[in-house]
Amino acid sequence: MNGEIFDKIEKLKLVPVVKINNIEDALPLAEALCRGGLPVAEITFRTEAAEEAIRKIRAAFPKMLVGAGTVINKEQAERALAAGAQFLVSPGTSEEILAYAKERKVPVFPGVCTPSEIMTALAYDVKVVKFFPASCYGGLKTIEALAAPFSQIRFMPTGGVNAANLQTYLQSEKIIACGGSWMVKEGLLKEKRFDEVERLTREAVALAERK
Ligand code: 3PG
Repeated sequence: MNGEIFDKIEKLKLVPVVKINNIEDALPLAEALCRGGLPVAEITFRTEAAEEAIRKIRAAFPKMLVGAGTVINKEQAERALAAGAQFLVSPGTSEEILAYAKERKVPVFPGVCTPSEIMTALAYDVKVVKFFPASCYGGLKTIEALAAPFSQIRFMPTGGVNAANLQTYLQSEKIIACGGSWMVKEGLLKEKRFDEVERLTREAVALAERK
């Protein structure tokens, strides 16, 4: 089960990081991502609507992969899984979240940017870490340096990834997929520009395929 989700994410190469303010945006957003060729979303726990959005998308788009993002404590992780989240993403490395994800056998991507955080993640059998915020911490160069002592781990860089640098990241074997919000920007949702979300998603998918 765990491995299956990592395989799907690796195949898709991209994980859109979404902030949903209004619950009525959840389904049109999911539809735009699917139509654009990217049936995956990380719904961030930065808004009240996150939990309900996960629940609704899971029910309406059963083939879509739906994870919870910005999960910063066990309580949120529990709520995310109860809502149907299939994976958890955190901006940092929290041992309570790692222990809980291990117990529930759910894929978790802890945020890391140092060797010590990777070592903490490894202690909980983590396979893939979120390198965050990627552009601020040296991007691919830092990932490759970190990968040298930790050959067993792979990375999902997030933070500053966009259409211009996506292919550079994806060329590295160490990278399973990139996370990013550029195709699902808050402003686009606010203005209900779901056609534009679909267009940017399709463009991102094409770039990822041509890497
Ligand atoms: C995240 O939490 O993963 C980031 O906010 C996404 O970063 P981006 O907005 O630079 O893509």
